Amino acid sequence: MKSLNRRNFLKASGLTLLPAALPVVPLLANNSNKESAPANEPVVKFFGDGEFYDGLPYLEQLQNANSKNQLKVDRYGSGGAVEELEKKFETITGKEKAIYMPSGTMANQFAIAMLSGENTKVFVQDTSHVYRDEADAAQSIFNKRLMPLAKNQTFFTADELKKAIENLDNEEVFKSGLGCVSIENPVRRADGRMIPIDEIKKISEYCRSKNIKLHLDGARLYMASAWSGISIKEYASYFDTVYISLYKYLGSSGGAILCGERSLIEKMPHMIKIHGGNMFGNWLNAAMAYYKLDTIEEKLQEAIKRSKEIFAALNQIPGVKISPLDGGTNIYSMKFPPGLNVQKLGESFNNYFIRIPRPNENGEAKISVNETLLYREPKYIIDAIKDSFNKAK
Ligand SMILES: Cc1ncc(COP(=O)(O)O)c(C=O)c1O
Repeated sequence: MKSLNRRNFLKASGLTLLPAALPVVPLLANNSNKESAPANEPVVKFFGDGEFYDGLPYLEQLQNANSKNQLKVDRYGSGGAVEELEKKFETITGKEKAIYMPSGTMANQFAIAMLSGENTKVFVQDTSHVYRDEADAAQSIFNKRLMPLAKNQTFFTADELKKAIENLDNEEVFKSGLGCVSIENPVRRADGRMIPIDEIKKISEYCRSKNIKLHLDGARLYMASAWSGISIKEYASYFDTVYISLYKYLGSSGGAILCGERSLIEKMPHMIKIHGGNMFGNWLNAAMAYYKLDTIEEKLQEAIKRSKEIFAALNQIPGVKISPLDGGTNIYSMKFPPGLNVQKLGESFNNYFIRIPRPNENGEAKISVNETLLYREPKYIIDAIKDSFNKAK
């Protein structure tokens, strides 16, 4: 693998044409994708939840994974690395059974559909991925009616949920039955803010007391866990089903895991098949996530520790203010010094192999903490940012 030339590989695979980052966050020096960085030069990225390995680095990670635990293929999601990953997640979440899914959207939709049975109403957060970003799949494919609560808020409270459920009888004449409740935590559309654990406990208690099933879209549950100190297992214990993404910070090129009661999860292979999601081989994704799981919690703790040091030093610079969001996880708000030349700033960051979101017209940006902060010592990052501000004056 080492003998492969990274640049040629990227060219041959056409990956040079891809933007280096998902085009969600406008970056400073966004002409500076990894292509302009020397091979093997790691880039510290103050955006996203983790590393996305493009091209050859993906294969290198898999090779590392293989030296630790020989890669084993699955066939149609059975056996090999997929089974190993599922077993690992059963232990991590404390749920009876886990199943690999080709996407988080599929995991959410199947969980909600199967938890709801014939009942049609599903309460969700207004800001959730399920409600806003899954192309109305619940309505159009699964005959479920998503009922949003807490408009533009991070979460709804147990009291709000209770009122909404109790009001159903007054507000609607025909009873089509309450299917389940779905919760996203942390909330992507609320800049990764979390639902307070006490509220989750209250919602869970209420739902259990009424025999209402509860699903967790925990795509980024590891972020919630790292910043709240609450284990994945504890979070999972409050829900009937939990989905966790394999690619947002576990390195895979896609995929999801869904965990829950054996009887429910055992219905999923059929669902996956009839919706065309039964892929011949899934082991490349599963093996990557399996490998990254070993160190993700440690790395996030170390990234948090280093970010504290980095942000404290940067906050000494006149005009700079980096602060956590209220109830936030890995996303922070950053105020840049006034009057900087953005072009020069970007070039300098680029030279230091650092990528930071571009500030808006008020000189502010949302920056993220993730494992890429560990690629350089805090002192290097602090000095590089200070020097870049000076150069851009
Ligand atoms: C909170 C949340 N849930 C679910 C998903 C869906 O994941 P996938 O892209 O694997 O379908 C995403 C993806 O962005 C997400 O952010």
